[in-house]
Amino acid sequence: MKNFINIADINKQDLRKIIEHAKSEKKKRFNINKSAIDPEKPLIDKTLIMLFEKTSTRTRLSFELAIKQLGGHLLVLDSKESHYGSGDESVYDTAKVLSQYGDIVMMRTHKHEHLLEFSKYLDIPIINGLTNLSHPCQIMSDIMTFEELKGSITNKKIAWLGDGNNIVYSLIEAAVKFNFELSIACPKKFGPDKKIIKWAKQNNAKILITKDPLEAANLADCIMTDKWISMGDKGNKNEKRKLLKPYQVNKKIMKLAKKDAIFMHCLPASRGEEVTDEVMDGKQSAVWLETLNRIHVQKSIIQWCLE
Ligand code: CP
Ligand code: NVA
Repeated sequence: MKNFINIADINKQDLRKIIEHAKSEKKKRFNINKSAIDPEKPLIDKTLIMLFEKTSTRTRLSFELAIKQLGGHLLVLDSKESHYGSGDESVYDTAKVLSQYGDIVMMRTHKHEHLLEFSKYLDIPIINGLTNLSHPCQIMSDIMTFEELKGSITNKKIAWLGDGNNIVYSLIEAAVKFNFELSIACPKKFGPDKKIIKWAKQNNAKILITKDPLEAANLADCIMTDKWISMGDKGNKNEKRKLLKPYQVNKKIMKLAKKDAIFMHCLPASRGEEVTDEVMDGKQSAVWLETLNRIHVQKSIIQWCLE
């Protein structure tokens, strides 16, 4: 049984296969309505169960369209409306119940450990739809988006400016698996997870961590950022905003990157904080394509899990 929990767990060949499959299946759907089922109906009668411990717009809608296009069915469980969420059923029992009703589970949890615990007890595959630690589906979609616009990501320079959060965790793993250069600029207090940096360095990653946003952005092929305050973030938010202010992606930062560089953001954004309107809505912005590609990459991930 194959789970999709973190990019680091999956071998390079399989990750590449997922991306290439997503690209070729997307091409086949040119001019086809978003809700139309793929002609081969690859997952006819298969059921995806989604469980959310926290809010979502893109992940929820893109997984719904993904399973629809594959010819399958969807069941959604909001943790607030379930026994698991209200605390009167254990993870073990909930996992066994989900295994009776579905063929695959996509889950968004506060704590990464919740997802790992579910994965131990489920008898069907699980996909990580974001935890406090990582967001692998987003980064797979971003790799696809980058390659659609700029060609192979291998040896390209990606710059991350801002919070060292769950998105950058998956980006670091991807830098190793897809072999690109990654420059991360962040204040010391909000740097990325130390364990994943150590793992990346042990695996010959080309990673630079700096306090200087100008150094990171210099001649980059892509500038990426995310909200400074993530869902469930604790601590002093005003202090965090103050420390992250120099890491805003604005016109000045985009000018330091390559002329044809793109801007990526997983969304939702706090416009005016981590990114200006000018950049979000500018010609170099790839944010809507990132959103669209979530559908295509997730179709490929679901199929890979069920192979
Ligand atoms: N990027 C992303 O996962 O967005 P949602 O929180 O809306 O799902
Ligand atoms: N870092 C953000 C990503 C949202 C898709 C969060 O965890 O809230």
